[in-house]
Amino acid sequence: MPMAVFTFLESYDFSGKKIIPFCTHEGSGFGHSVEDLKKACPRADVRQGVAIRGGSAATADKEVARIVDMMK
Ligand SMILES: Cc1cc2nc3c(=O)[nH]c(=O)nc-3n(C[C@H](O)[C@H](O)[C@H](O)COP(=O)(O)O)c2cc1C
Repeated sequence: MPMAVFTFLESYDFSGKKIIPFCTHEGSGFGHSVEDLKKACPRADVRQGVAIRGGSAATADKEVARIVDMMK
């Protein structure tokens, strides 16, 4: 994750909050991001989320719908 995201996560209390990670990538998927999120927000409910390949983003309607479903 970019350092600005770590700073954001460290600046607020995410205890009890649901976090649904999503990103585009070109092969690395989430990398370490989900583990890093869990460490930065140990009392948050960090879900598995969805990583979408950038080249397929324009046709990723189903994956995006899955993210929206997780928010309900
Ligand atoms: C500087 C930079 C380095 C990146 N390195 C990687 C990488 O090593 N592996 C990867 O899967 N995605 C990497 N990405 C992300 C993808 O390039 C990007 O998410 C994907 O092409 C979709 O394009 P978008 O950023 O326009 O959504 C990188 C992005 C940037 C800006």
